[in-house]
This record gives sequence, C-alpha cells and structure tokens, in this order.
Amino acid sequence: MAATRKLHLCAFLKPVSLHGAGWRYPGAWADANLNIGHLKALAQQLERSCFDAVFTADHLALLNMPMEALQRSHTVSTFEPLTLLSALAASTDRIGLVGTVSTSFEQPYHVARRFASLDHISGGRAGWNVVTTYNPDAARNFGNQDLREHDDRYRLAHEFHTVVRGLWDSWADDAFIRDQATGLYFDPARLQVLDYQSPEFAVRGPLNIARPIQGAPVIFQAGASEAGRQLAAETAEVIFGSETTLEGACSFYADIQRRLLALGRPELAIRIMPGAMIIMGETMAEAQVHRARLDSLVDYAQCLPTLSRLLGCDASGFAPDDPLPEIPQTNESQSTRAFVLELASREGLTVRQLAQRLGGYGGLTFVGTATSIADEMEHWLNARGADGFNILFPHVPLGVADVTDRLVPELQRRSLFRTNYEGATLREHLRLPQPGNAFFRLKT
Ligand SMILES: Cc1cc2nc3c(=O)[nH]c(=O)nc-3n(C[C@H](O)[C@H](O)[C@H](O)COP(=O)(O)O)c2cc1C
Repeated sequence: MAATRKLHLCAFLKPVSLHGAGWRYPGAWADANLNIGHLKALAQQLERSCFDAVFTADHLALLNMPMEALQRSHTVSTFEPLTLLSALAASTDRIGLVGTVSTSFEQPYHVARRFASLDHISGGRAGWNVVTTYNPDAARNFGNQDLREHDDRYRLAHEFHTVVRGLWDSWADDAFIRDQATGLYFDPARLQVLDYQSPEFAVRGPLNIARPIQGAPVIFQAGASEAGRQLAAETAEVIFGSETTLEGACSFYADIQRRLLALGRPELAIRIMPGAMIIMGETMAEAQVHRARLDSLVDYAQCLPTLSRLLGCDASGFAPDDPLPEIPQTNESQSTRAFVLELASREGLTVRQLAQRLGGYGGLTFVGTATSIADEMEHWLNARGADGFNILFPHVPLGVADVTDRLVPELQRRSLFRTNYEGATLREHLRLPQPGNAFFRLKT
C-alpha cells in the first residue's frame, strides 16, 4: 500500500500578515514586522508545531501604491531577509529558514555566499526564494529607470541560478583537511575555480566559504507566467502557488508535472505549496464574524479603486451600504467581473464589504473551524492541488495561535502532519534529496 502523503507547511512571516488591516485587529502586535522579540517568539512557536519553514518575502522598495494607501500599510518597515533569518537561526534549532533574494539587483557571488553562510549558521536549514522583482520602484533604487522586460528577467534568473549553484560547489565536502601537524588547511585538488564568463556575469570564484551543509540551500520559486513556470520546473524544489481555486491549483500542479517529465526531472522533484490565509473560529459563524471584523478595518476610500478596477466600472457613486447594483457588461476582464459579482451574491456583501474584502486580502482564504479547514487541506492534498501550504496569518499573534494550537493538532490527529521533526535540515523536512557536487565525488 502506498504511504499516506503528508502535508508540508511553511509560514509566511515577513510581512507577518498579508491582510492590509491585520495590524489593526484587536490584540494584534502592530509593530511585529520590526520587533525581533516578537518574530523570534513566532518562529519558536511555529517550530514547536514542527513547521517545515518560515518564509520571508522581499521587495527592495516600498510597495508600489499611492501614498494615501501606503500610509496605512504595515509592510513599509521590515527587516532585510538574510539578516533576520540569521537572527532566527540563532534562536531556533529545526525550522527551515527561507529568504527571498532577487536575481535582478544582486550579484551571484554575494548571494551564493550569504545563503551558504545562513546554511552553515543554521545547521542546514536555508532556502532561497528566487524572484525576478516586478516592482519598477526597485529599479529606481539600483540606478535604473525601469525593470528589464519580463521574460528577459526570467532568462537572467536562470543564468544567475546556474552561477550560484556553481559557486556553492567550489569546494569538495572533504576539502578542508585542517592538518595541524603538516600545517595544510585544505587540499587544492578538492577546490574548483568556476571561471564563469558571459555577457551578463564574469565570476571567477571560488566561493570563500565551504559548500553548504545541504549541498545547496533549497530553491523556492513563485512564478506563475509561462516563463515563471518554466524557470520553476527547471530549477525549483518548492513552488509557492497562488491559485485561488482547487480547480486552478490542480491544473497548475499537473502543468508543473508535465514540465518536469519533459525535462527528465523526477515526478516528485518539486513540492507545490499554494499560499492560504487561515481565518478560524470555534464555529463557522464565529470564523465569519472574525473575517468580517477584520475586513471592516480596511479603509473604504482606499479599497474603492480596487473594486472599480475589478468590476471594470467606476464604483465611487454606489451606495456603500447597499447591495451591489446591476453592473453592465464592460470591455474589461469578464472573468474577474464574474468572480466579483459571484462573491458579492454568494456572501450577500454590501458594496463596502465587497471592497473591503478585495482590498484586505484577495487570495485563497480558508475560513472555518479547525475541522473544516483540515477537511479542505486534506481535499487539496488528495486531489493533487497541493503538497502543502504556505500559511498566511490574518494577524499576529492570535492568528498564529489559531494555527498552532487548533489546526495543527487536528492535522496531526489525522496523520496528515508530522508530530516530530524526523530530520535536521530543511531538505530532510521536505523529503528532498541532497544534491551531489557537480565537480567532485567524495573520495571512497
Ligand atoms: C507566495 C508568494 C511569495 C512571493 N514573494 C515575492 C517576493 O518576496 N518578492 C518578489 O519580488 N516577488 C514575490 N512574489 C512574486 C513572484 O515572484 C512572481 O513575480 C509572481 O508570482 C508573478 O509571476 P510571473 O512573473 O511569472 O507572472 C511572490 C509570489 C508568491 C505567490
């Protein structure tokens, strides 16, 4: 009989919530993004629940939105990912530490070195979320007026990844003999000078740090476009999906499997983990009240433009506390309009509630009890829409406690999630193989 598949769980911890008003929720830690004590406590709590990893996003600029909206965002002041993860490495023992670094504004040598350092400091718990950066404001922080063209960014990311992987393999795992009697620290025959030359990168190498404990930190990716999916299929070991329906997630999952097959990579080479916000209550009704309360904290004036954009018509004249009026067909996206109309009618939302819902967090959200959410997760796992989830918290610390104290025990009761870490490294948590060194085999 085939072994039961178990879920993998990552925790989106930077920013601590993707809900626009999460920091305003009663009892929320409003300063959590810049409070290292809070972040350490959350990482330790997630580790006690045996999460695979904590994940830190990064954007190299403030979010690209008008000041009236930006001034309400808790994302504007957060730590640089690898600095934060190094601090979390020292205050945790087992949980994986995944950091986002862009291939558009960095140099491969720096990136290889920083992730190798994190992997050694943490005892093999590092992961790199490879992003190409879509915010044009980031370009303006690095001497450019604009980003490269979308697919060209992905081409560059592929090459960047190749150089970083080459640098990580600079040293054989047995290169450092440290023979105090002879005075020889390493064996030069076990050192590779990469000497990478192309129009984009000139990197001699070798890297000035030993090969990472995991051979290579785990590669994460979140691209959704054709170029993004292909980069993920070629290089990634975990994909953060962004599908909002099970149907979409299954089709994404199957598409990645097809790409892996075409590339000759094993079927299970990649773990696919859609992002999911968890809003819980003791009863379904309580969870819905909780969500409504959270959404009500989103500033109406700031989310109206989002509603207008999604409906394809100006919503500013609608009566905020009435149901949505009849919306004529427009030339804008029909599927988006249909999605918004269906949401409003299914949940009986007023114009204000609808705008606040879409402005707070528009992605996949599981709302319910520990039992109903565990049912949904199990269903996504069994339907091959997910190998696990990248959990988003509506606010901290209560949103984290809901997951660790109620949802995780329910998943464990169903044998869908580990009750202890079986391994020490992030690769082991994710059941991913240790990569061999491209240049060296271990001497027998
Ligand atoms: C869970 C998740 C986390 C992401 N984190 C970041 C991030 O930290 N920085 C970033 O620039 N982009 C981030 N992205 C955006 C993706 O890298 C990518 O640009 C986006 O999904 C669009 O993909 P596409 O360019 O292939 O269309 C994230 C996406 C997802 C789904």
